[in-house]
Amino acid sequence: MPPKGYLERLREICDRHGILLVFDEVICGFGRCGAPFAAQAFGVTPDVITVAKAITNGNAPMSAVIVKDEIYDTIVERAPGEGIEFFHGYTWSAHPIACAAASAALAIYRNDRLFERAKSLSPYFLDQVAALRSLPVVTDTRGYGLLAAVDLKPGPAPGERGFSVLRRCFETGAVVRVTMDTIILAPPFVCEQGDIDTIIGLLRDALKAESR
Ligand SMILES: Cc1ncc(COP(=O)(O)O)c(C=O)c1O
Repeated sequence: MPPKGYLERLREICDRHGILLVFDEVICGFGRCGAPFAAQAFGVTPDVITVAKAITNGNAPMSAVIVKDEIYDTIVERAPGEGIEFFHGYTWSAHPIACAAASAALAIYRNDRLFERAKSLSPYFLDQVAALRSLPVVTDTRGYGLLAAVDLKPGPAPGERGFSVLRRCFETGAVVRVTMDTIILAPPFVCEQGDIDTIIGLLRDALKAESR
């Protein structure tokens, strides 16, 4: 989690020195933080945002770079005689299947009001995650929106315990992600409270098994 005032200070320092501020919103973009982008959730506007994953709901490979008008105009809208567009020849740029998946995903996010749904489910989800702190193997939890992390006491080797929990969860029906000994939870926006209970219940069982 960015400490209070951290992003504001970054913005201020970048402005003072003419540095472009880039937010990597590959995970936290598209509603994960209960707002379209974390930039909006935290009230700090970067110059560049990188996105991927949820842009197509993960159904087709696609990533994108969002830039402010000034940068776009400098790169793409050069007046005749001022130079040429900064051209990148990626093989799969704007692939029609990925574009169709992105258009469909964005329409569903909007029509089903899924970002609002993520925001309203968030307090329940974060409470359930925080309750895991009572387990001896959990050292800390944190989260925002529908994104949370559970830090574990390291096992015999770095990352071993995290992977063991991932495997136990997978075997019982919950897909979690790990970064070394931290479990990452990012439930789908169509979850009901009962689904959150199921996910947290399966994770709790896996964590209890680790303590034995
Ligand atoms: C925060 C974050 N940024 C970037 C990436 C990588 O994105 P890509 O595969 O689109 O390069 C990941 C992948 O998980 C990520 O979690």
